This record gives sequence, structure tokens and C-alpha cells, in this order.
Amino acid sequence: MSIVIAGGSGFLGQALARALAQDGHEIVILTRRPRAPGRDSARAIAWTPDGSVGPWASSISGAAALVNLAGESIAARRWTATQKQRIRDSRTLATRSLAAAIERAPTPPAVFISGSATGYYGPLDDRIVTEEHPPGADFLARVAVDWEAAAMDAQARTRVVCVRTGLVLARDGGALPKMLPPFRVGAGGPVGSGRQYWPWIHQQDWIDLVRFAIRHPAATGPLNATAPAPVTNAEFARALGRALRRPAWLPAPAFALKLLLGEMAEALLLSGQRAVPAKAERLGYAFAFRQLDDALRSILRR
Ligand SMILES: NC(=O)c1ccc[n+]([C@@H]2O[C@H](COP(=O)([O-])OP(=O)(O)OC[C@H]3O[C@@H](n4cnc5c(N)ncnc54)[C@H](OP(=O)(O)O)[C@@H]3O)[C@@H](O)[C@H]2O)c1
Repeated sequence: MSIVIAGGSGFLGQALARALAQDGHEIVILTRRPRAPGRDSARAIAWTPDGSVGPWASSISGAAALVNLAGESIAARRWTATQKQRIRDSRTLATRSLAAAIERAPTPPAVFISGSATGYYGPLDDRIVTEEHPPGADFLARVAVDWEAAAMDAQARTRVVCVRTGLVLARDGGALPKMLPPFRVGAGGPVGSGRQYWPWIHQQDWIDLVRFAIRHPAATGPLNATAPAPVTNAEFARALGRALRRPAWLPAPAFALKLLLGEMAEALLLSGQRAVPAKAERLGYAFAFRQLDDALRSILRR
């Protein structure tokens, strides 16, 4: 059966599309640029994710799943007012388009898996955070609240899962390759106080958890996609040093990061959440990578 992935051309979408194609699904990608290279393994359909429904909507009728990964990157540019608007609109409007398409589909997709992020909880200290925790009030939290609300509008017609993803670790994309250069030369270390929690997940577990959520009828509502053992940023730096066999004690001061990156530094690097996958574990998902050392060793080994 077919699975439609909106924003399926990106870091997570491409890897998920490959895995689901191997499971025997026909993959359809909704993209703003259907003719861009690298679309070969899936059928690419053009869409305009502006809150409206277009001819692309017929592709979701009867699908085994609709997965929503569309959104302007949160780390690509400094957060000007315009960029923040793009980050917000690209998620809420794309999700509204998909929910409206589900509303009108002759046969709704069997499940709607929609993106979200652990940023939903806002910046927190070392308390453990499950799906029950209320949302934060900073910019990313407010974006996630609106993003999830737009997805939950589809509830009347299908099962909806909002995947609150943490920092996805992989060799060939996401944040990890960008962090590596200073660590490789022994100039890496904690950022700011190092006490902020970074909820991480190995890319393989993220893919397998989405597959699990597609198959599992009891998976519904918010779902933390984070490993069971989140670490502080200082522990993350030490683990990265161990994996690369390099010293990792050189701190990056908070004021310098704020000067360089503005508001983004606080939200993406200097704060975090000790989010745990309470629902995934309750439903019986078995993580392949529970400990950061194992995840980093598997990703960074030659
Ligand atoms: N990677 C992580 O560690 C992580 C962590 C937490 C949450 N997430 C969330 O998971 C989702 C997928 O992440 P990713 O790392 O795969 O992101 P990505 O590589 O940036 O891919 C996102 C896709 O969204 C589409 N897109 C980009 N800008 C857009 C815009 N302005 N309007 C509509 N669509 C746009 C693009 O597809 P086309 O150009 O083909 O249209 C792009 O391929 C994102 O929403 C992200 O916030 C990711």
C-alpha cells in the first residue's frame, strides 16, 4: 500500500522513505520542487503547502499512512522576525493543508503521523519530561503547540500521532556532522553551563519508532521520539570525545554563542528538556540504542 510523506525530501524523510520502500510500500513524496535531483526512489508530487488543498490531495486517499515532515529548517538562518514567521507558517500551513485534505478524502489515510519536536516543552531543568508535561511558552514551544493543534484537527477522520522528536543523530545529516569538526581536533566541549539536557535519538530508532507508530493502533496523540537515557550537554560532549578518542573539555561560552547566533543559541544550544519516551516504552517499542555511547560508536565507527 502507499505511504505519502510530505517534506519527504529532507534528512529524515529520505531515510524514512527508503526504509518504508524496503518494507514493500509504494512511496509518494509531496514536495515544493518535484523535479529536484534525488527523487528517484519515490514518486514526487508537487504541492503548495499554504493551508489550501490542491490536486495533490487525491494521492492521500486510501493511503496506509500520511507522514508530515515539512517545515523550514530551524537552524539554517538567524532568527529574524521574517525567518520566525517562515518557521511557524511552513509548519502550521503545511499541516492545515494536510488536515484539510484528510477531511475531504473519500477514504482517509489509516494514520496521520505529524511532526513535532521536544521544543514543545520549552526550556526546562533536570526534571523528567513525559508526554503529559504541559507546553512551554517560548517561540519554539508556541510553534509546536500550533503545529500539533493543526494536526489534531484530523482526529475526527483518522488516528493522529504527533511525533515530538529530539536531536536525531546520524552520520550524514542533522546536527551531529555540524558538531564534529571542533571535536575531531580536540577543541570540542560543553556549551554554556553544560547542565542543559539534550534529548537525543539514533536515526535508526527514529525510523523504527515511526514504523511502529504506523502499525500500532494504540499509538495516538503525542509521542516522544527520544532515547530512554537523555544526557546533559556536558555528558554529550564527553561521550563525543570518547567516541572520537579526543579530549572534549573546551567550553563554548554562552555569551559568545548568543552574540554569534542570537535568540537561536538560547533555544537550540543553551537549553533543553530531559524528555523520555514514556509512551513508546509503554506500548512496547524496543529501542536499539538506549545509551548515547552505543549510538555514537555505531554512527562514528569507520
Ligand atoms: N532533524 C532533527 O533532529 C529534528 C528534530 C526535531 C524535529 N524535527 C522536525 O522534523 C521535520 C523533518 O526534519 P528534517 O531534519 O528532515 O528537516 P529537513 O531536512 O529540513 O526537511 C524538511 C522538508 O520540509 C520541506 N520544507 C522546507 N522548507 C519549507 C517551507 N518553507 N515550507 C514548506 N516545506 C518546507 C522541504 O521539502 P521540499 O523542499 O521538497 O518541499 C524539506 O525537505 C521538521 O519539521 C523538523 O523541524 C527534526
